[in-house]
Amino acid sequence: MVTVNDKEKVFHLHNGRISYLLYVMESGQLGHLYFGKALNSAGSYLHMVEKAYRPMTTYINEGDLTTSYEQLRQEYPCYGTSDYRYPAMEVQGSDGSRICKLEYQGYEIMEGKKALPGLPATYTEDGAEAATLEIRMKDGWRNLEVVFSYTIFRDVDGVARSVRFVNHGKEALWLNRAMSLSIDMPDADYYGVQLSGAWARERYVKTRELTPGVTAVSSMRGNSSHQHNPFLALKRKNTTERSGEAIGFSLIYSGNFLAQAEVDNYNVLRVMIGINPFGFQWKLEPDAAFVTPEAVMVYSGDGLNGMSGQFHRLYRNRLARGYWRDRERPVLINNWEATQFDFVEEDILKFAKKAKECGIELFVLDDGWFGKRNDDRRGLGDWKANTDKLPGGIEGLAEKIEALGMKFGLWFEPEMVNKDSDFYRSHPDYVIATPGRNMSHGRNQYVLDFSRKEVVDAIYVQMHELLSKAKISYIKWDMNRSISECYSAAYPADRQGEIFHRYILGVYDLHERLIHDFPELLIESCSSGGGRFDAGMLYYAPQGWTSDDSDAIERLKIQYGTSYVYPLSCMGAHVSASPNEQVGRATPIGTRGNVALTGAFGYEMDLNKLSGEEIEEVKEQVAFYKEYRSLIAKGDFYRLLSPFEGNFAAWEVVRQDGRQAFVTVTRILSETNGPYRRLPLCGLSEERKYHVESRYLSYDAYGDELMQYGLILEDKSSGSPTDASAGCRDFMSLMYKVSVIE
Ligand code: GLA
Repeated sequence: MVTVNDKEKVFHLHNGRISYLLYVMESGQLGHLYFGKALNSAGSYLHMVEKAYRPMTTYINEGDLTTSYEQLRQEYPCYGTSDYRYPAMEVQGSDGSRICKLEYQGYEIMEGKKALPGLPATYTEDGAEAATLEIRMKDGWRNLEVVFSYTIFRDVDGVARSVRFVNHGKEALWLNRAMSLSIDMPDADYYGVQLSGAWARERYVKTRELTPGVTAVSSMRGNSSHQHNPFLALKRKNTTERSGEAIGFSLIYSGNFLAQAEVDNYNVLRVMIGINPFGFQWKLEPDAAFVTPEAVMVYSGDGLNGMSGQFHRLYRNRLARGYWRDRERPVLINNWEATQFDFVEEDILKFAKKAKECGIELFVLDDGWFGKRNDDRRGLGDWKANTDKLPGGIEGLAEKIEALGMKFGLWFEPEMVNKDSDFYRSHPDYVIATPGRNMSHGRNQYVLDFSRKEVVDAIYVQMHELLSKAKISYIKWDMNRSISECYSAAYPADRQGEIFHRYILGVYDLHERLIHDFPELLIESCSSGGGRFDAGMLYYAPQGWTSDDSDAIERLKIQYGTSYVYPLSCMGAHVSASPNEQVGRATPIGTRGNVALTGAFGYEMDLNKLSGEEIEEVKEQVAFYKEYRSLIAKGDFYRLLSPFEGNFAAWEVVRQDGRQAFVTVTRILSETNGPYRRLPLCGLSEERKYHVESRYLSYDAYGDELMQYGLILEDKSSGSPTDASAGCRDFMSLMYKVSVIE
């Protein structure tokens, strides 16, 4: 999968479907040639290097008026030597100079892929699944070694990259900027696609045409954020969900990030993604190393849906890991939206009992069970049960839930503390704060300094004790505010630029320790819903709470956008009460079920409050999920109709062998006497016959018809506007089962 032309120093990573080409320039820097659909192994590619005399350019060699880094396409540009675009790295010495020039030293090719110390990353299970090319570079002046790692996957059309810096000099250096990936694409005729939003409306799809200058998304909040996801895609003007080129960039990281696309004056596009350089500075003592997080770029010639399919396959199979990666996820019920802080054991047991009757497998006790946590002003940091609410403690309650035949799960917010807590009273110095300045709060809480090992240890001890004593099968790991006044009392002045990154390393460390001690524990990540819904968390927590907005109609957009990068297996999606707590919208239980069923499914409500008829629907939904959950988790996902573009949202999940599928179609507002509609499906076998079944419809058709003519969308509102029970209403959703019969 890696071919090297040693004479021309050209490296070709390929897997039969994609090619990635880079080379060593005469000056010793690394140059970029190509990333995209596979090219034949021509052997020589240096004619692809384009350079010419350009006015107002700075050239690196006297007498040579064509060689300038300003116009050479690079792999990982440094600052200060004739390139005036944003660099991928910037290193500063004790002399104050920030100039750097890397020169090629050599390369190594290995089977599979190395792990990144302390960081989440994709992995291989056997060497044949991927090949890794490591290229060693050096700034001789500083004696700084920089090693670029490129992994190409056999089964995914993508390349994973990371960079390792090692200071072999005698003096300390400071890394001011160390992106994970940078690439100079030959043209800039793209649109940028980003996933942006806010709390309760995370990951909306936003598209903008790239124009000269910088298009960027970022976070400087300490978490990857509700506002922007660590992801950026490029698509051509005519790229659709199903056709045309799309290139996706995703960062496997949960902290401050920057993803940017810079169009220069010669229509070259520089894309980079990595730790946000704002607020970042890492001191590299002699012999010390720094490794960037990993970034993944995927190529699709089959549109944006094709791009998502590549991410889904890689992240589901070779980023998520451990006991739960391939196991069927339990149907869960969570008490938060039903009770908030106001519950006692008796209520919880009634709540769980009803859930058990409906076939639900896991009960999750949310916030409010510990310390003096009767509201959000107190308790965080004291991870011991409040025995006024739970007389037998967590151990007692977990036993009772298990006795009902369910598993028990528990909410934690390990990184946070309230001032009104025993933990804070005994360790007031454990928080992130700038001495002498006001400490801002978020939801009345403060952030523990997870850049310090002793702080992580203190939380680990409490969590470990509880998880050892009580039968806890699942934890929901929350993080309900961003970091402000970032400063750590434990580090000197010249290391304060490391705190945001060290904080995230501390979060990863605590996850790693708990996974090591309790390998069968299922962890669901959360950050006020989807504030840290990123590829980094997926390495530790195979599912995440997608958004605090659990309204089915709002979720259409949130889940649709989330699916650009993240597989259904990791998208926590629950049925909640109607009218919905966040938007006050009343939706039928069937619609709420349909929308949540394409995710890691569960409930977020007191089922005792439902009518007998609604309970029957809940039982059907749970049974459906149990039958289809392995298809949902492992099947291919197709976005069919976008809720960002019209009154309908539709998507389809197809078993990888094409024999079984289901389609969810949701019409947002009711229509009177609407048109006939068909919905072309994807991923079926043209020559096989399928049976189509939904609430109102049942017929047989060949795969070619279902994909060409389309699935017939029955719509009972046409011509019968008063027949509400048959679906003539706002927020109507239908599920179609499609199964091979011949
Ligand atoms: C966050 C989560 C919710 C819930 C509350 C509890 O907002 O996103 O699901 O757990 O915290 O305080």
